[in-house]
Amino acid sequence: MLTTEPCILVIFGASGDLASRKLVPAMYEMHVAGQLHASTVILGVSRTQKTDDAWRDELKAWVSQQVKNFDAAKYAEFAKRLFYFPGDAVKSECYPPLEKRLAELAAEKGTRGNLLFFLSVAENLYEPIVQQIDDAGLVVEGKRWCSIDPNTKSWQRIIVEKPFGRDAASAASLNRALGRAFEEESIYRIDHYLGKELVQSMLVLRFANSIFEPVWNWQYIDHVQISAAETVSVGQRTAFYDQTGAIRDMIQSHLFQVLAFVAMEPPSLYTPENVRAEKIKIIDSISVPTADEVASHCALGQFASDGKEAAYHELAGVAPGSTTETYAAIKVHFDNWRWAGTPFYIRTGKKLAQKRTEVVVQFKPPAANLFRKVPGFGGEAPNRLVIEIAPKERFNLRFEVKVPGFGLRGANVDMQLDYADQFKTEPVEAYGPLIVDAMRGDQTLFKHRVEVEGAWNAVMPFLDERSAAARAGIHANYACGSWGPASADELLARDGRAWRNEP
Ligand code: BG6
Repeated sequence: MLTTEPCILVIFGASGDLASRKLVPAMYEMHVAGQLHASTVILGVSRTQKTDDAWRDELKAWVSQQVKNFDAAKYAEFAKRLFYFPGDAVKSECYPPLEKRLAELAAEKGTRGNLLFFLSVAENLYEPIVQQIDDAGLVVEGKRWCSIDPNTKSWQRIIVEKPFGRDAASAASLNRALGRAFEEESIYRIDHYLGKELVQSMLVLRFANSIFEPVWNWQYIDHVQISAAETVSVGQRTAFYDQTGAIRDMIQSHLFQVLAFVAMEPPSLYTPENVRAEKIKIIDSISVPTADEVASHCALGQFASDGKEAAYHELAGVAPGSTTETYAAIKVHFDNWRWAGTPFYIRTGKKLAQKRTEVVVQFKPPAANLFRKVPGFGGEAPNRLVIEIAPKERFNLRFEVKVPGFGLRGANVDMQLDYADQFKTEPVEAYGPLIVDAMRGDQTLFKHRVEVEGAWNAVMPFLDERSAAARAGIHANYACGSWGPASADELLARDGRAWRNEP
């Protein structure tokens, strides 16, 4: 059984949006859930000058806004874990006083020199900060750290947020930079989608039951849809987003994690090594489209003006004529035995009709239709399993039943399991359980170096010059509040299929 060890969680980029909106609220939830060691503290590092108390007050507003059931008394307890250090983490002069502060906290709280760094900064700062951490001698890998507790071995780990590179080459370069300072066992490449309850539940559904896995293959599954539709726009992040686009922002990262859990082979045992090895294998078996295939394997779009906000390509901060996609749908095939001929369609976009993150597993029709000559039988939609990840957490299994009464008529019905009803729980912020896993040294739900580079290789044709044809006519090619460009419907229609858009 893994236990949470005391540590200092050092958040670089403590004044940023991610830290305020997600990380600290997630840590509050973990504190309330009793998941943090009593001695664990959080040290926020950022350039802005402020005191511990000022940071605590600032965060109170964020936490109360972000979490359900905020409790001021519990926050006051939690706030005792929060400390702030003003400094520019890319500069070497930041480190002697930072090390001093870490040593003081470690001695005072008894955190044994265990440090968990979280890079919550712009991507271009990852490598310089890792270099500085290393140069400052903060990473000692199992040996004593500073002058604290010379007899106790400590650990230093690092959590790296996405984007993890822009392509395979830059991801490899970042991996090398991290690898110079940390062992692979100490590097936690985080993807908050793996912290989502229903994403984790996928492996339990598949591998802790006997009824799903026998049919979880090309023989029984017609196709799979993975959707992450958002109603929001790109917010204040236009400059970042314009360099990134939906494929990098969502598909290569989050949705490939979901894809891996839906498609991977069963590991022999649920251990970090085994799960990560299977994820590497499945991502590696994605069939990368040729230059000729790219345009017919994807649909890209940009939202039009909604009358209030400008169209994406006219937003301030977006490069003139930008062809960055705010919507992307891609078709993925695997070169492996299990999924031969079964396509996986993945789509995501901003300013769409609904906030909806889900996996649709569409089964093939029964081998023979015994009711084909029954007049007015109806029904006949094939079985379908919908795993709703957000905003609701639900499983829906559709199957055919007889309509009660005289005569023989079929109807499609849904059997539903709603997590909130069943378990009487509210979803927690996905970062929380993942950060706690990192505190425990459990890498199961973090990405391996090889997997990240493999995921980049698989999406590159959709991003580089091979995608030019798919980007022609991208400007304002879908209406706000719609389900995306017409080309996305055509992508499936060409294969005789349709997206699940019904509520
Ligand atoms: C982030 C992306 O990683 O995930 C955002 O950068 C996106 O653009 C967000 O909105 C979606 O996360 P969630 O948990 O709301 O589905």
